[in-house]
Amino acid sequence: MSGIPHDHYEPKTRFEKWLHQRLPIVALMYDTLMIPTPKNLNWMWVWGIVLTFCLALQIVTGIVLAMHYTPHVDLAFASVEHIMRDVNYGHMLRYFHANGASLFFVAVYLHIFRGLYYGSYKSPREVTWIIGILIYLAMMATAFMGYVLPWGQMSFWGATVITGLFGAIPFVGDAIQTWLLGGPAVDNPTLNRFFSLHYLLPFIIAALVIVHIWAFHTTGNNNPTGVEVRRTSKEEAAKDTVPFWPYFVIKDFFALSFVLVVFFAIVAFMPNYLGHPDNYVEANPLATPAHIVPEWYFLPFYAILRAFTADVWVVQLANFITGGIIDAKFFGVLAMFGSILVMALAPWLDTSMVRSGRYRPMFKWWFWLLALDFLVLMWCGSQPPEGLVPALSLIGTSYWFFYFLILLPVLGVIEKPLPQPATIEEDFIAHYGHADGGATSAKPAE
Ligand code: HEM
Repeated sequence: MSGIPHDHYEPKTRFEKWLHQRLPIVALMYDTLMIPTPKNLNWMWVWGIVLTFCLALQIVTGIVLAMHYTPHVDLAFASVEHIMRDVNYGHMLRYFHANGASLFFVAVYLHIFRGLYYGSYKSPREVTWIIGILIYLAMMATAFMGYVLPWGQMSFWGATVITGLFGAIPFVGDAIQTWLLGGPAVDNPTLNRFFSLHYLLPFIIAALVIVHIWAFHTTGNNNPTGVEVRRTSKEEAAKDTVPFWPYFVIKDFFALSFVLVVFFAIVAFMPNYLGHPDNYVEANPLATPAHIVPEWYFLPFYAILRAFTADVWVVQLANFITGGIIDAKFFGVLAMFGSILVMALAPWLDTSMVRSGRYRPMFKWWFWLLALDFLVLMWCGSQPPEGLVPALSLIGTSYWFFYFLILLPVLGVIEKPLPQPATIEEDFIAHYGHADGGATSAKPAE
């Protein structure tokens, strides 16, 4: 697919020409900032900038925290207390970093569900989507390892439970687990390698983000209609788009400032709301907490992991067929990773010719049910596996797989889509009554 036609950077002065021939960096910046962007993007397109902000915030606060943190089992907990009490603004830095991780996940879930609703994962944006999934997996690994560093009770026991999952892999599991931990149990080598990797991974995420942005700059952004920008000529394209600078830069920063008001209020007034009190107790390998729970953003996947107990018939069937190789624990691990894999495959599972959920009357309902399902699973993950929770987790997990593996392929065939606008401009005029949103018109926008 050729890019959206638009004006490119022309070096004017002698210096600009000199530099351009040697390093076309100004051209790169110009083309990035002036990229034609669909003018009908709604507020769900602001999460990308929030995510970029979070990544920068985590890197900056993390680097300063690392200056005062000691990755040793005898000193880690005390060094975090030292940051909280003695280091100038240390408590603020730590609270920004800990809550920054939560904001990062709020933004990434909204970003992903936006993509699922508007079909942003569909051709030609599959690579953007797959890189997004890789970023998400790297975010999960980074957050998991970061949570181990304060060396509280939840750090230790969370690490023990999650690394134990690798032990469930048949034949090679024990060897992998020992290799990950650097020994037979969570201990000093584990803390050291988790610290090292926790420092490294955000830079890998940053590199992936650059490729992610490169990919959707190549295809152009999706938009709420799912109808592509016209590429027949520069003039036609200009009717569907506005340059990213200044329009979307201003809009993105406006949205970011709202998000930050809420974020700063949480950091300042309720910084431990999302944390677990047990993590203010130093790790003790001899005392297991009554109820081990991961951070809120892992809860839906934790519920999927726990959904498959030995009394579930599919687990029994898998166990029988594989002669006992697949047990309940391994099945849970497969389901947890499988739930992300099926999401990664969405571009190929969705058979609909229509991209945006706006024009898909049946899909819409199933999509909202998926969003609800995600919240229900999150709740299930936070509860002890008793009473209704196991059954609800199983139903929630089944729906997750049903949505991706059955509904997406089938709906595309049986659903009769609603009429779509022919162009983005048409949709824009339908909303605002004028091609420029009424900005230059005497007639107010309808
Ligand atoms: C550090 C994490 C991430 C950053 C900084 C990031 C950044 C961005 C930005 C700036 C955009 C364009 C504006 C917008 O849509 O808000 C975008 C678009 C997109 N992102 Fe991400 N993203 C991240 C993670 C993800 C993840 C985890 C996924 C999915 C699994 C994903 C899928 C997409 C898709 C499909 C688009 C194209 C959307 C469109 O143009 O409609 N991204 N991303």
